Amino acid sequence: MNNREFPRRRKKLMDMMGDDTIAIIPTAPVYIRNRDVEFSYRPDSDFYYLTGYPEPEAVAVLVPGRSYGEFILFCRENDPVMETWNGRRAGLEGAVSQYGADDAFPVEDMDEILPGLLENRERVFYTMGNNVSFDQRVLGWVNQVRKRSRAGVSAPDEYVSLNHFLHEMRLYKSRAEVAAMRKAARISAKAHKQAMQVCRPGMMEFQIEAELKYVFMQNGARDPAYPCIVGGGANGCILHYTENSSVLNDGDLLLIDAGAEYDCYASDITRTFPVNGQFTAAQREAYEIVLEAQAAAIKKIKPGNHWDEPHNAAVKILTQGMVELGILKGKVSQLIKEKAFTKYYMHRTGHWLGMDVHDVGDYKVEGEWRTFESGMVLTVEPGLYLPASSEGLDRRWWDIGIRIEDDVLITDTGNEILSDNAPKDADAIESLMAHGIAA
Ligand code: GLY
Ligand code: MN
Ligand code: MN
Repeated sequence: MNNREFPRRRKKLMDMMGDDTIAIIPTAPVYIRNRDVEFSYRPDSDFYYLTGYPEPEAVAVLVPGRSYGEFILFCRENDPVMETWNGRRAGLEGAVSQYGADDAFPVEDMDEILPGLLENRERVFYTMGNNVSFDQRVLGWVNQVRKRSRAGVSAPDEYVSLNHFLHEMRLYKSRAEVAAMRKAARISAKAHKQAMQVCRPGMMEFQIEAELKYVFMQNGARDPAYPCIVGGGANGCILHYTENSSVLNDGDLLLIDAGAEYDCYASDITRTFPVNGQFTAAQREAYEIVLEAQAAAIKKIKPGNHWDEPHNAAVKILTQGMVELGILKGKVSQLIKEKAFTKYYMHRTGHWLGMDVHDVGDYKVEGEWRTFESGMVLTVEPGLYLPASSEGLDRRWWDIGIRIEDDVLITDTGNEILSDNAPKDADAIESLMAHGIAA
């Protein structure tokens, strides 16, 4: 991320917070995987959005108008022994020189320093509920200041969640953010193409996962944005299947939902294709309906339309299609009204996308669906899930699970599909799998 982004974001947030306020933003904790082994570290998205600081054990404090500097970073000090064991640290100097902190203090000294920073501030911007023990510390610091009221010090008397201002900011992507998301989507699209090209009956699902991760890393994305979903046949009907431990059978479909994370920005792409490279007639019929539903949904994504329009468009095509195929019986409008489609399409058609795969931002404003605006990014992911266990489902459709998911940026005039490089036309997929070229 371009280094000018972070001070700009902090300034914008502080302008919204106003005078006599303070914001406290801790990063994510380190999570233990087992005994001495940690999960790979990922900073908190809000914290990283404002600081670009990648190390654990850090807290950003923003104090608008503070004469000694408005951005204070509490972080780990340099420590040659710890750095020999566990890796380099920016230290206090690096916090200032590399990350633009006005002041940096050891994170261990926070209990001493924080109460002083809270003095004479009216409002504390802090998001409660993410980390109970940190919540207690914040309350404790404020109480300490309160006890000094007889000395003429005033303590904050209002806690305000940071979510409203900060998540509203994160919903609108800057040019630099769009560049990172485009890169993440391109890398993921490449990985999906690779998966299509190497897939053969008899392989294990996790071998396909290995290909995806290989392409992610080879192209600069250190981690997936979420665990890869690689589900053959019936497993494709489990929305968040992540075991990826079954053999891929000739004649089945394979559903892959996998996206790379680049510079803490997510992509989220799903493609569904035949394990052996050729759709059966039934698979193709169902596939075409999902593809058509996705196209109809994407057409609704433009400034001025509201959040629910793509979903409604997808639901209409999916329901019509299921009636045409005899999967649902009845009048389309009635089936939509009764939500009969949820038997085979039980999730929403998308979500905001950004630093978090299910990104922040309100979907409704004052009780009404939000209107699309330029700079927002969302996914469009209709599907049909037809497990053999469904009551009354004709054998012909058994264990067909299909989802097609793209990442879409709203532009001034319409939209741009960031994940367009991954083929989704059925003929193009078959051609890529047979000849290495998406026709
Ligand atoms: N990969 C999770 C989702 O599609 O929402
Ligand atoms: Mn997905
Ligand atoms: Mn998604």
